[in-house]
Amino acid sequence: MNLNGMKVLVTGGAGFIGSHIVDACLESSAEKVIALDNFVNGQEKNLSHLRHHPRFVKISGDIRDVDTVRPLVHEADVIFNEAASKLVVSRVRPRIDLETNILGTFNILEAMKETDKILVHASTGSVLGNTDEAAMREDHPQNPSTLYGISKGAAEKYVRFYSDEFNVRAAIIRYFHVYGPRQEYGGEAGVVSIFLGRVLQGKAPVIFGTGEQIRCFTYVRDDVAANFMLLEGLLDGRYRGEVFNCAARTRMSVLGLAEMIIEKYGPQGMKPMFGPARLGENLRPIPDTRKIETIGFRESVSFEEGLDTTCHWVENDLAVLS
Ligand SMILES: NC(=O)c1ccc[n+]([C@@H]2O[C@H](COP(=O)([O-])OP(=O)(O)OC[C@H]3O[C@@H](n4cnc5c(N)ncnc54)[C@H](O)[C@@H]3O)[C@@H](O)[C@H]2O)c1
Repeated sequence: MNLNGMKVLVTGGAGFIGSHIVDACLESSAEKVIALDNFVNGQEKNLSHLRHHPRFVKISGDIRDVDTVRPLVHEADVIFNEAASKLVVSRVRPRIDLETNILGTFNILEAMKETDKILVHASTGSVLGNTDEAAMREDHPQNPSTLYGISKGAAEKYVRFYSDEFNVRAAIIRYFHVYGPRQEYGGEAGVVSIFLGRVLQGKAPVIFGTGEQIRCFTYVRDDVAANFMLLEGLLDGRYRGEVFNCAARTRMSVLGLAEMIIEKYGPQGMKPMFGPARLGENLRPIPDTRKIETIGFRESVSFEEGLDTTCHWVENDLAVLS
């Protein structure tokens, strides 16, 4: 997609997915790309390669602050809203979670109301909650089992309301277990990175619960491509206020993932360790992805290939840190 002549704002632009969107927008000839991040979780190193890029601007600021957000939204033609608090934040600092995910999104929407901008808003399968159903469609009832799922679900509703009521041009992309380079591996981010980080340091991966929980992993480049598909549709006047589940068709248990990573990259004889099950964890967050597939979404990077690329990135990062 060609973004020639467009100014893009990526909130959470120093984070995992946001920084890949920043790169893709610059590669697609955007006139200017602004990454807004408060660096609570974002990393300078995710953007350091763009330090001297003439079309890139990094802004250290907070989406909860309306005076920061409004002028940036007014300047941009397109906004990718990737800034968010995480599941772990919602457990220990629920007010921050609420303010970031709901008030932050509200600030963007209010500023958009006064203008004619386009928003692709990042959401999560966590808005749906636990279910035994085989595959959840976009309109599946929402019963989130975490405060993070509640705040992200509320943000979705705000986006839909502003789209219906105020004609704001916005679509919602719901991610499910994205993985790839730049995903944090030391904390509580994606299980692929966390397992890789541990195994590459000679430590056994730790599984919470039985390991039978199913995940569908999507390589970050494919999610970025999906964001562009939604942007293209919005520019053509389609998808307004619509939600799209976005996930590859790779299905794997957490135990299967741990065994695969140990076999490929770990020392002989390593076995996964088990910890207590996590409160509110979604055991089968399996989306129905036919809607996004009808507009062209496909897994372009196989899980094996994506895992190898991610493994190399974690290896390099560990080498830099040591
Ligand atoms: N990674 C996944 O598997 C996944 C799955 C489902 C949904 N999501 C959603 O995708 C989006 C991006 O997630 P990610 O995995 O890249 O996470 P991430 O933590 O790497 O990126 C989020 C970024 O937002 C920034 N941020 C947080 N609070 C902020 C604030 N108040 N103001 C400005 N910046 C702030 C953080 O510093 C971070 O850089 C989020 O909306 C998340 O809810 C991700």
